[in-house]
Amino acid sequence: QTDLRGKHLITLQEWTREEIDTLLDIAFDLKRRKALGEKHHLLEDKTFYMLFFDNSTRTRNAFETGMTQLGGHAIYLTPKTTQIGHGETPKDTVEVLGRFGNGIGVRNCTYKVGNAYMRELAKYSKIPVINMQCDLYHPTQALADIMTIQEKFGKNTRGLNFTISWTYAPKYIRPLSMPQSLILLMSRFGMNVTLAHPPEFHLLPEFIEQAKKNAAENGVKFNIVNDMDEACKDADIIYAKSWGPIAYTGSDTEGAELIDKYPNWVMDSRRMALGHKEAIYMHCMPADRGIEVTEEVMDGPQSVIYDEAENRLHTIKAILAATLK
Ligand code: CP
Repeated sequence: QTDLRGKHLITLQEWTREEIDTLLDIAFDLKRRKALGEKHHLLEDKTFYMLFFDNSTRTRNAFETGMTQLGGHAIYLTPKTTQIGHGETPKDTVEVLGRFGNGIGVRNCTYKVGNAYMRELAKYSKIPVINMQCDLYHPTQALADIMTIQEKFGKNTRGLNFTISWTYAPKYIRPLSMPQSLILLMSRFGMNVTLAHPPEFHLLPEFIEQAKKNAAENGVKFNIVNDMDEACKDADIIYAKSWGPIAYTGSDTEGAELIDKYPNWVMDSRRMALGHKEAIYMHCMPADRGIEVTEEVMDGPQSVIYDEAENRLHTIKAILAATLK
């Protein structure tokens, strides 16, 4: 009964729980069909455009492979290889692509610009616009994360303790999109959310306010702490990775100073042991092994990072199958 055809996905915050649950149902079904070797050509003759302003391993290949497995075709576009580099407007770009194909995904993480670009495309688009990560949100990653948590703990996630710990990112500057998406979504699935970060590494205040509201509406806790040990205590899910310093400072130079200030903000086995015995370790990748998280945790028995990455494929296929026109 949930008709998602043609619906834009800029953030899951704009989707109802019923709509998100529908995507998850489809994702589990498509994963089962793939495992059984059943053909599932739900998007035959359909074309999806993937417009990347930034690099990607998982997202690009999940969309491209997903379209192949669904019997359709994906086209990789960049500003350099299109007339976007020449200054063509979002309106002109999407009006034309909408006459050819059936959906468009965009990755644009440029701070204060990426989300605005996507919104502008969506305003004029007659085909669904899918956020493949922007400066504010990463909805396709967050959906794969929920699927992974449901696989590990069961569909009913109420009462689980979800800890997000964020620290510095020497190489990968992806301002805020992951922690902001996670604090908004996990409480909607009944989890108590703890956000841990060094004092200066704030998320945007409106996201904190919305996360508090989501938690209150769903009868769960939302806490912010500046101590990684405290955050890991009694956790069921520990999602610890890097957080670009540019998110706070707006400049690489100031960010570099912050990196030096927090050399111990690292996820390691001692901290994993503070969580529940059955706790899992998650990371959306790419990871700075040995800097933000130890090899021992990344490759340890509690790590679910590769299942999580695989679920990008199944959840992205679900989004494509449900929304493409
Ligand atoms: N997690 C994630 O979005 O990975 P990529 O940057 O490789 O797409």
